[in-house]
Amino acid sequence: MSDRLFFPVIETERLALKPLVKEDAAKLLGIFSDPEVMQYWNTAPWSKMEDALDFIQHCEDAMRRQESLVLGIFLKSTAELVGKCMLFSFHRESRRAEIGFGLCRSCWGKGYIYEAGQALIHYGFDSLGLRRLEAEIDPANKASAKALQKLGFAQEGLLRQRWEVDGVVSDSALYGRLVTDPT
Ligand SMILES: CC(C)(COP(=O)(O)OP(=O)(O)OC[C@H]1O[C@@H](n2cnc3c(N)ncnc32)[C@H](O)[C@@H]1OP(=O)(O)O)[C@@H](O)C(=O)NCCC(=O)NCCS
Repeated sequence: MSDRLFFPVIETERLALKPLVKEDAAKLLGIFSDPEVMQYWNTAPWSKMEDALDFIQHCEDAMRRQESLVLGIFLKSTAELVGKCMLFSFHRESRRAEIGFGLCRSCWGKGYIYEAGQALIHYGFDSLGLRRLEAEIDPANKASAKALQKLGFAQEGLLRQRWEVDGVVSDSALYGRLVTDPT
């Protein structure tokens, strides 16, 4: 597959989705050090610049290996970085990957993830040739569950007590969407 496919710029009405660069680190740290944003994440909130820089480098390496696609979410109106969305855990033979999102607190509830998610899903199916997308979320994360359902995902399972982060144990709800599912 062409290298360029894993470094796209995807535009929607209000958003530009594009690969993160080192210069995005400070803004990214601001978003993902917020305990509210990270409440249902399977890692603790970021605490230092190195966390953001390591993440950006790790993403670039994984994208070069065509193992994941991680894109910053930028507002077209201000060019501000407001979050990230990703396709990861690619299984090439089965043509499936996982999807994930994170948005700064001040941008929740504005339909941005619906807009970014639709574009990312279409890119995964149409350009990367995927057949199935999966998502794993904390069932208590109502915003995420609602956003996934709106994006055409169905809940397919529940894994009990799957995670323990900072001593807090939580379940995982598994969601899936097929390329053949109605949108
Ligand atoms: C989960 C998250 C990505 C949703 O993004 P968002 O841009 O706020 O979602 P949208 O505005 O596109 O909303 C999609 C749907 O979910 C609903 N929704 C959003 N937040 C909600 C909430 N807190 N409770 C219930 N429903 C909610 C919206 O109303 C909308 O449905 P509607 O159009 O029928 O009204 C965002 O809240 C976030 O980044 N949270 C922190 C990180 C996280 O938990 N990521 C998920 C792990 S993969």
